[in-house]
Amino acid sequence: MDIFKVAVIPGDGIGPEVIEEGIKVMKKAAELDGRMQFEFTYFPWGCEYYLENGKMMADDGIEQLKSFDAIYLGAVGFPGVPDHISLWDLLLRIRKDFDQYVNIRPITLLNGAPCPLVEENKENIDMLFIRENSEGEYAGAGDWLFKGKPEEVVLQTGVFSRKGTERIIRYAFEEAVRLGKSVTSISKANALNYSMVFWDQVFEEVSKEYPQVKTYSYLVDAAAMHMIKDPKRFEVVVTSNLFGDILTDIGAALAGGMGLAAGANINPEKVYPSMFEPIHGSAPDIAKQGIANPLAAIWSASQMFDFFGYEDIGESLLTAIEKVMEEKTVMTPDLGGNATTSEVGDRIVKQLEEKH
Ligand code: NAI
Ligand code: MG
Repeated sequence: MDIFKVAVIPGDGIGPEVIEEGIKVMKKAAELDGRMQFEFTYFPWGCEYYLENGKMMADDGIEQLKSFDAIYLGAVGFPGVPDHISLWDLLLRIRKDFDQYVNIRPITLLNGAPCPLVEENKENIDMLFIRENSEGEYAGAGDWLFKGKPEEVVLQTGVFSRKGTERIIRYAFEEAVRLGKSVTSISKANALNYSMVFWDQVFEEVSKEYPQVKTYSYLVDAAAMHMIKDPKRFEVVVTSNLFGDILTDIGAALAGGMGLAAGANINPEKVYPSMFEPIHGSAPDIAKQGIANPLAAIWSASQMFDFFGYEDIGESLLTAIEKVMEEKTVMTPDLGGNATTSEVGDRIVKQLEEKH
């Protein structure tokens, strides 16, 4: 029997509420399947921890997480703690220290999920965004000169290394081969005359290693438009850190909203643990009311099964989510229903049992 050690960081706000449902579902799916088992270890880190201890995680937090197979994270963020602290000292720290250079965001419109597009454009919204997750515009490189003076200057530098650019593009091609799909690169070489010219050149080079894969290349502004007007042209999509951040929010809106958007931060070499999370935040406006939608957290659990090589279980979770959306009887208020977070989790569990 495979045993996977998962570090759980529920975090703040609705984080713990949705993670509890995700774990409920993971346990049940593993139990029904019988080939594998999870060992969960909880870490109380986040903004509430920060308010008590003056730090987002334990000093040796990274060391403590290192031996796990995966990290399952809710959300961090709390009124009173600046967002750049919660982001840089926990989330980005884990992503960087564990070299989770691939951010995978599935953008798939499931049957029954709400979509803001007119009917004829809703077909085939099924994209896999591969976002560069370790450098680029979010490298944190720059300077702030003459602070507060009239001649004040700030520099924010994009960092695109050959290694970093090649590996993310190659990862996208490997996924495209596995899925039998095309790859679209999104950049902006007309305006960003160093970084994105380089990006396009590397894309061109790597594509030569995969002559069987159909490729497309768009400027980011045009891509934003095509995602709305003709989303079916996108299959596997590879793009930089900033562009990926923005475009996947468009994607989240297309595929049912924040309550349904999942993301995985992957270290493909498995030298370090990878991290799975719903992409929404801690939603202080609805926290502690038991009405947060747990489906994004459950979708990220499905990504974890895929990552561990149990794609069939991952698929069964997605099928269960889709079924619940189609039934429309047990849905949280963001999707127009009046069910609680745990009622939705229970319905998914029931669905898995019935299917088994
Ligand atoms: P948010 O994603 O927390 O909320 C945006 C809106 O979507 C809110 O109206 C919220 O109620 C709704 N929403 C989000 N998730 C939902 C769910 N599962 N079910 C139902 N409704 C849901 O983003 P916001 O308000 O900008 O940020 C709140 C805090 O979260 C901030 O402190 C921010 O820094 C942090 N944050 C953390 C992230 C993370 O940990 N990965 C990501 C984004 C924001
Ligand atoms: Mg974002």
